[in-house]
Amino acid sequence: MKNFEFVNPVKIYFGKDQISKLAGELIPYQKIMLVYGKGSIKTNGVYKQIKTALHDKDIIEFQGVEPNPVYETLMKAVEVARREKVDFLLAAGGGSVIDGTKFIAAAIKYEVGDPWNIVVKNEKISNAVKFGTVLTLPATGSEMNSGAVITRKSCNEKLAFGSPLLFPVFSILDPETMYSLPDSQIANGIVDAFIHVTEQYLTFNMNAAVQDAWAVSLLKVLKTEGPKVLKNRNDYDSNANLMWAACMALNGLLTAGVFTDWSTHMIGHEITALFGIDHAKTLAIVLPGVLTVMQDDKKEKLIHYANNVWEIYGEDEDQLISEVIDKTEDFFKSLGIGVRLSDYNIPETAIDIICNKLEEKNYIKLGEKRNINPEIVKQILALRK
Ligand code: NZQ
Ligand code: ZN
Repeated sequence: MKNFEFVNPVKIYFGKDQISKLAGELIPYQKIMLVYGKGSIKTNGVYKQIKTALHDKDIIEFQGVEPNPVYETLMKAVEVARREKVDFLLAAGGGSVIDGTKFIAAAIKYEVGDPWNIVVKNEKISNAVKFGTVLTLPATGSEMNSGAVITRKSCNEKLAFGSPLLFPVFSILDPETMYSLPDSQIANGIVDAFIHVTEQYLTFNMNAAVQDAWAVSLLKVLKTEGPKVLKNRNDYDSNANLMWAACMALNGLLTAGVFTDWSTHMIGHEITALFGIDHAKTLAIVLPGVLTVMQDDKKEKLIHYANNVWEIYGEDEDQLISEVIDKTEDFFKSLGIGVRLSDYNIPETAIDIICNKLEEKNYIKLGEKRNINPEIVKQILALRK
């Protein structure tokens, strides 16, 4: 295991009626900006619960953060927040609203120059407005991590950034908020969380027994509880298990002490930027290709995954690996997620464009061993036509 430092300061309120806890959390703040998406919080009762909890607070609202949050929109929120001297941001929604709020929090304090530099130049964030979240879609783990992904429309770029100053102060996870999610978003959430775990686990053996055991447990929970949620949308316990598993999948615990892959995400982000496909769906396309092409490097972990998560065994290692990759792909399909570029009408010609985009950004050494170059990305995507 590698040396590591670990800190996660996010206070979690988990369970029914926890949105009422906002009142206590926001006592120190004078001017709050509630940031949300297109309006689902208005129809599922979350908005009302927030307003009730904060009835005596001075709140302004910023509505309209879109899925795959867009810099151009977020800068409008930055302008309002600066003008109104907002001292706390409250994000209510899924990963996009939370990521967007992270950008707004940093950008408000980035007063000289274009805040896009935070994203494109990875400039160190030295100050940010404090923020909390009310999560309504379990998927990204953004509610308990300090990273975010933002898209700039004018240049079609989708880029990740982060800072220790971008951990939420608190996050409220009420599984009942999930009841209004469309099935497709539940399926997206299962797949995104599943692949967050594989990005950190399906690498090479680092004798990190705790992290490996956590990864196995989370994958098993996602694989059993996820479909239960889709079958019985209002089953509180399976919603709760999915929500907590997705949160734990990307809060730093699995990453501590190990090398991580993230190539599926890097390739996936290009597909979203170019074709607007949901984040999780791009991952479902790419992951089986990464596991197939990189199977020699990942052999030991793939066998561990086959034995421990899928409980399949066999003497012939190549056969076992091929079987477990098929099982993974079938699992995504069983959730109603397409796993091929053609499922989304993405033409074969897109493969070169995706590789060129990665190369332009110098993303030419991906994966846990930094050996996935654009030529290998081409091989990966060629398997996913
Ligand atoms: O706009 P609203 O009205 O909020 O509707 C949203 C949106 O249309 C809707 N929704 C959310 N909660 C709902 C609901 N509809 C009904 N009932 C509810 N309770 O769902 C739609 C999708 O929401 P979005 O926030 O875009 O989904 P998700 O949570 O999957 O977030 C995806 C974004 O997160 C980034 C992705 O790249 C993508 O931009 N990621 C962030 C990460 C991080 N910060 O750590 C890691 C991830 O790998 C990922 O890259
Ligand atoms: Zn993801």
